[in-house]
Amino acid sequence: MTSLSLNNPLILHDKRPIGVFDSGVGGISVLKHIHTLMPHEDLLYVADSKHAPYGSRMPAEITARCFEIADFLIANNSKALVVACNTATAASIDAMRLKYHIPIIGMEPAVKPAAEASKNGIIGVLATVGTLKSAQFAALLENYGRNVEVVTQACVGLVECVERGELSHPSTLHLIQQYCRPLIDEGADTIVLGCTHYPFLRHLIEQVVSKEVALIDTGAAVAKYLQKRLQELGLLDVNKEISKEKSEEKSMVTFYSNSNADNAKQVISQLWGRPADIKHF
Ligand code: DGL
Repeated sequence: MTSLSLNNPLILHDKRPIGVFDSGVGGISVLKHIHTLMPHEDLLYVADSKHAPYGSRMPAEITARCFEIADFLIANNSKALVVACNTATAASIDAMRLKYHIPIIGMEPAVKPAAEASKNGIIGVLATVGTLKSAQFAALLENYGRNVEVVTQACVGLVECVERGELSHPSTLHLIQQYCRPLIDEGADTIVLGCTHYPFLRHLIEQVVSKEVALIDTGAAVAKYLQKRLQELGLLDVNKEISKEKSEEKSMVTFYSNSNADNAKQVISQLWGRPADIKHF
């Protein structure tokens, strides 16, 4: 059914949802951009919080998680997938694209835009151990980091802070201070938020680094790229978009989580910015 839509240009509106997932709640930072740009599209979001963080896991283990989640999202009729996780993209996107025949959009740290934006030629990258150790990241540096100095910093523990909803906790600020220090000391004027959990800590990072430092996150660019791909493939829900202008037809955003935490619903609602119902995944 999915390949039918891909191959059939006559289908110009596709009511099926877009499936988005992350190791946990971080991908909600990307989901927000997608929802803002395409408010008429139904969205499914899977937070694999029981297995977060992915950053310290082996690539094969991450790929097995991605397959399980993709199977679930496709079984729930997703027309496209967004891997809203830099670590999972680095570990698994090639294997996913071989296995599934629907559009799969991934994320990578914004080294290219940062290198272009930097005035002094020194950029910092905050990311997980898994992302920084990956072949994809090495290729990014090779392709776009040659003419700049790139200071990388693995941020062990930050994903967990966001998972717990500790967005302004003193221990979260302490980690941010520790991880931003080397970037500040090297004089980075542009810092890449190379993990989708980190945009939720932007306010703390801004407290720690100088006002002159630009923080770059790729959520908005990924949402735009997703829209472009869906448009090219005739997969946008054009009918709903048109009818939304006339009526106030609401799109559905459905959250799935396998978190055991008592406050899972509260954390997701806090990050999403409004009350969210959570289904078990
Ligand atoms: N949000 C994920 C990312 O963008 C976090 C990975 C993890 O769970 O370590 O990399």
